[in-house]
Amino acid sequence: MKVSVFIAVSLDGYIARKDGNLDWLDEANTRVPAGEDCGYGKFIASVDVLIMGRKSFEKVLSFGGWHYGELPVVVWSRQGVEIPNPLAGTVSCSSEAPQALLERLAQAGHQHAYVDGGLTVQSFIHAGLVNELIITTLPVLLGEGIPLFAPAPHGQSPTQWLQLLQCQYFPFGYVQTHWKVEST
Ligand SMILES: NC(=O)c1ccc[n+]([C@@H]2O[C@H](COP(=O)([O-])OP(=O)(O)OC[C@H]3O[C@@H](n4cnc5c(N)ncnc54)[C@H](OP(=O)(O)O)[C@@H]3O)[C@@H](O)[C@H]2O)c1
Repeated sequence: MKVSVFIAVSLDGYIARKDGNLDWLDEANTRVPAGEDCGYGKFIASVDVLIMGRKSFEKVLSFGGWHYGELPVVVWSRQGVEIPNPLAGTVSCSSEAPQALLERLAQAGHQHAYVDGGLTVQSFIHAGLVNELIITTLPVLLGEGIPLFAPAPHGQSPTQWLQLLQCQYFPFGYVQTHWKVEST
């Protein structure tokens, strides 16, 4: 099972403001020419399951509409989450540990998982389960917010080496780096 992260981050390393607000992302995207998706379309077409933190799921729902079509989505939550009826066929909820969740999804035939959300991405990274990171850095300093990376909990091995596969500069100020996590 390949596990990927595709995420936008401020230059100072935040994926959202403290309260989850993405106004800066919306504002930055107004400078992106129509039709430019920075590789997102190709990436999302390559995954066959999305594991999304409960807070990110609720944020996505708050936008209205649903942008993942028939892609199976697993909402990662200990407390459980209400899944709107129209999504019940593709969205499920799990509190399994990262390794166990990925093993179950692999047994069900999935081959490429997209992991999304702050704490969620951090947990899968700390567990050593992420194979690639595609990080789009936006030209903004937020000062504070929800970080992409955070210290690993005590007892989890934090050192992971990466190989830079690609670095792309976009004329509207975005820089996208594509990293492969080297297996130990
Ligand atoms: N910039 C970007 O590209 C980007 C991408 C994705 C998300 N975001 C933003 O990031 C924010 C959300 O990030 P976040 O870090 O606050 O939350 P998150 O990762 O989306 O979700 C966190 C939730 O995951 C669940 N969880 C955590 N550890 C777990 C475990 N061991 N087992 C089971 N469930 C577990 C918990 O749900 P329960 O509390 O329900 O138990 C926890 O509250 C949102 O504002 C979103 O819009 C930005």
